[in-house]
Amino acid sequence: MEVLAIESSCDETAAAVVRDGREILSNIIASQIETHKLYGGVVPEIASRKHTEVINQVIASALDEADRVLSDMDAICVTYGPGLVGALLVGVGAAKALAYAADKPLVGVHHIEGHIAANYLAHPELTPPFLCLVASGGHSHLVIVKDYGEYEVLGRTHDDAAGEAFDKVARAIGLGYPGGPKVDALAKEGNPFAIEFPKASIEDAPYDFSFSGVKSAVLNYLNSCEMKGEEVNRADVAASFQEAVTGVLTEHTMLAAADHGIQKVALAGGVACNSYLREKMKNACEAAGCKFFLPPPILCTDNAAMIGSAGYYEFQKGVRHGWDLNAVPALPLGK
Ligand code: KG4
Ligand code: ZN
Repeated sequence: MEVLAIESSCDETAAAVVRDGREILSNIIASQIETHKLYGGVVPEIASRKHTEVINQVIASALDEADRVLSDMDAICVTYGPGLVGALLVGVGAAKALAYAADKPLVGVHHIEGHIAANYLAHPELTPPFLCLVASGGHSHLVIVKDYGEYEVLGRTHDDAAGEAFDKVARAIGLGYPGGPKVDALAKEGNPFAIEFPKASIEDAPYDFSFSGVKSAVLNYLNSCEMKGEEVNRADVAASFQEAVTGVLTEHTMLAAADHGIQKVALAGGVACNSYLREKMKNACEAAGCKFFLPPPILCTDNAAMIGSAGYYEFQKGVRHGWDLNAVPALPLGK
């Protein structure tokens, strides 16, 4: 079975053709980063407008590169939440129009389910159940994937998402947008133990996260250096901040795996591109005797292939959406 998948929840316009939920036939991504860079972050109105400008070409390229035409597709899958409402609407509108015109089934997909499903594309042998840490710009979730499309959310962030913290700290140390990759690169030149930033935990919620404290601690550290006239070693700040955030992500994940007797652990979401987190999680899984799964960076950040994989499993379960499918900006994970 082959599906056309569309993703437009934030600042990437993406389309892909995926076979049987596991094989990528094409994966086209038009990034808007260069535009949003000028503003230091994603401007929702501009994101929607850019999506409308390129979505038709992106879809045509995805079909072309897969050497397919629309009538070859068995279904059309599209992200309908969570995300920016105006941005989501562009993808949802395009998917509905194509599905209606070509008389194809329409399957709405949850963006986070897509991030998790990126692991199915990267690891054909991976099957549920497994534990997945999803860390992106908008979400930080610790999830047991009980079966395809069946989730138990063990933990989530109480304030900032991990990626959001990376982006805010990057801005504070003058690295600009998008922050995550820039902090990752600069941290390689710094000492992760130079400054002790807090590794926050939530009382009575051992799998939950809080990243606003560590972000504030970085801002306070920068302010106090400025007031004392001390020079800031930005590489040490980046490395120490990264150590605090990835330390908490890894510790909570491994605790959840041990408590629930899970031996398969996966990473997903944009922050899963972080080289330090990838290494830390790999070592922690090895030490705990867990199998570790992680997608290549191109499948960690927003793309449509992951939506095609998640959509395939939804389709197999019988999920079909009607022409009234709408964007749901705060769509919850786990029904
Ligand atoms: O999954 P994603 O592409 O979009 C959302 O669904 O949010 O994640 C984007 C987030 C951004 O906050 C970005 O800074 C972060 O992922 N990110 C990273 C790295 N690459 C991307 N964070 C840390 N280290 C990286 N190498
Ligand atoms: Zn995402």
